Amino acid sequence: MKQLIPDNLEPGMVLAETVFAANGRVLLAEGTKLTRELIDRLKEMQILTVFVNDENTISVDPDDVLINRVHSEALQVLGHFLPADIFGERLGSVKDRYDSLSGILDEVITDEKVANLYLDLRTVDDNTLNHSITVCVLSLIMGDVFKLDRERLVQLGKAAMVHDIGKKAVPGEIIAKKEDRTPEESKAYEDHTKHGYHILREMEFDVSIARAALYHHERWDGSGYINKLAGENIDLFSRIVAVADVYDDVTRGISYKQKYLPHEAMEFLYGAGNIYFDARVVKAFTGSIFAYPLGSIVKLSTGEIGIVVNVQKTMAPRPIVKVFYDKANNRLDYPRQVDLSEEKTLFITKIL
Ligand SMILES: [Fe+2]
Repeated sequence: MKQLIPDNLEPGMVLAETVFAANGRVLLAEGTKLTRELIDRLKEMQILTVFVNDENTISVDPDDVLINRVHSEALQVLGHFLPADIFGERLGSVKDRYDSLSGILDEVITDEKVANLYLDLRTVDDNTLNHSITVCVLSLIMGDVFKLDRERLVQLGKAAMVHDIGKKAVPGEIIAKKEDRTPEESKAYEDHTKHGYHILREMEFDVSIARAALYHHERWDGSGYINKLAGENIDLFSRIVAVADVYDDVTRGISYKQKYLPHEAMEFLYGAGNIYFDARVVKAFTGSIFAYPLGSIVKLSTGEIGIVVNVQKTMAPRPIVKVFYDKANNRLDYPRQVDLSEEKTLFITKIL
């Protein structure tokens, strides 16, 4: 019996153990003979490893498993924020940005020192690795707007990927508590920034990378932690990571009581520009990501349900939605198109 990652599976191999999905459902039973389609399905379901009855295979390298997983997740996140159209094509500047940033991501993700930290990030809690991947992708999209050269972009990507590594030195129950921490617990939590800086410097990461771990909770108006820096005294990497960090936190509903929809998170960032965040960084962010990719099914404030059919015109928060169902959930004979950038009283209330 050998343990393999899906990439190393071949048609004809026989499963030595049942494969379960993340929700515990049986995906493929022991004894199943693998076909190309089944192998593709395992990859799609992001199954890490499976056991097969085959003597002529190599055993799994745990580092490869995590690098593979982080890589495919990162490309998926990049594709979410720089999406393809409904025919699967990325056009014009979106394609160019996707192509160049996916190359940068490759370099960031396969870096040996960065990859060494994936398991630590994964074990902090259920969110930290995925959060780090999203913060990395969003930071690169912003760094690209600032026209950082390739070397700086790679450094920014690494900084974003490992910005929360100091959390591994904070007791798990304090991380898990999220809100209502005692002053002592808050202090211990805030110290993840210092721990991160020291861990990264000990591993001989560049100081610009370690600095982002130290200062990503500083705020433009000086109200953040850990040194109460303000304005441009906070380095650009930290200012960029801060915006990506908060956007992902509020849209995931981590450490904030309310979970924001993408346009709500963007409005929050707009409002906080030059208060908590560098307004230029916020602009780079809101002007370059697609909060609602084409094909997103959304519920409007009227109760109607539609599909996002155009995002070119007003890239980020207010797409054009084709309404297919009225508020009583009856399918419309004649779907109507609503341009949310023009109909300001309407807004998206839910992604379905
Ligand atoms: Fe943090």
